[in-house]
Amino acid sequence: MGEERVALVTGASRGIGRAAGLALARAGSPVAFGYRSDPVNAEEAAAKVAAEGGRAMAVPIDVADEASVAAAFDRVEAGLGPVRVLVNNAGFSRDGLAVKYPTGAWDDTMDVNLRGAFLCSRRALAGMLRARWGRIVSVASVAALRGNAGQIAYSASKSGLLGLTRSLAREVGGRGITANAVCPGYVETAMTEATRQDNVRRYLDVTPAGRAGTPEEIAAVIAFLASPEASYVNGAVVPVDGGMTA
Ligand SMILES: NC(=O)c1ccc[n+]([C@@H]2O[C@H](COP(=O)([O-])OP(=O)(O)OC[C@H]3O[C@@H](n4cnc5c(N)ncnc54)[C@H](OP(=O)(O)O)[C@@H]3O)[C@@H](O)[C@H]2O)c1
Repeated sequence: MGEERVALVTGASRGIGRAAGLALARAGSPVAFGYRSDPVNAEEAAAKVAAEGGRAMAVPIDVADEASVAAAFDRVEAGLGPVRVLVNNAGFSRDGLAVKYPTGAWDDTMDVNLRGAFLCSRRALAGMLRARWGRIVSVASVAALRGNAGQIAYSASKSGLLGLTRSLAREVGGRGITANAVCPGYVETAMTEATRQDNVRRYLDVTPAGRAGTPEEIAAVIAFLASPEASYVNGAVVPVDGGMTA
């Protein structure tokens, strides 16, 4: 049996992150479910993995806080082992028109969606480089592939995540480490709960699948990119959007 490939998923108490953690566990990884404010659901996800015979833990991690990132990696390494798979999933959107978009909301969005991915990736790389094996999968968005009115900060942060991914791919691709990104389309989660019905209709109208995606459909692609089998996929940006950007 080869080395267990411990995975850390940020923002894994619910939605796409939770589904990704469960998919990785079912593929054989011990999984740390990162949460910021919801230990109960993160613990529940970890318990579900344990009930299915896997190893998992819940770990507090605010990706915008460098000290929290460092502490979380230390805990995961002590609890499960060195992190070989990182899923940069934590993210949020504060929507608003550019003309009066608050500077603080811009900064918060960049801090979580972009700087957070940088802080986690940098910390993860130390061990991955030593092991000469690693997988970094970042959850961007279709808003990274084209602009979205009302989402200036979100779209810019997710576009930045693609630059981070591609640069990492070139920098560490010779050491057995890959960095890839998925770009989900419209997925029904807590994040999109407040989306106005006319906007939901607008998204679905331009989605050939004609429906929202599920967290599990995004998680399946994340799990593949994190697998040993995806060893020749590096720097890829994979839309998982029911054809929205085709
Ligand atoms: N749903 C969609 O349609 C869609 C489409 C494209 C891309 N995405 C992306 O997919 C990812 C997951 O989204 P989702 O739809 O599953 O949303 P969600 O259900 O709202 O989950 C977001 C997760 O991120 C965590 N989070 C937020 N700020 C954080 C921080 N500073 N540090 C650590 N964790 C933090 C949240 O934890 P707390 O609540 O505890 O803060 C939560 O667990 C996001 O990056 C999002 O941008 C979603």
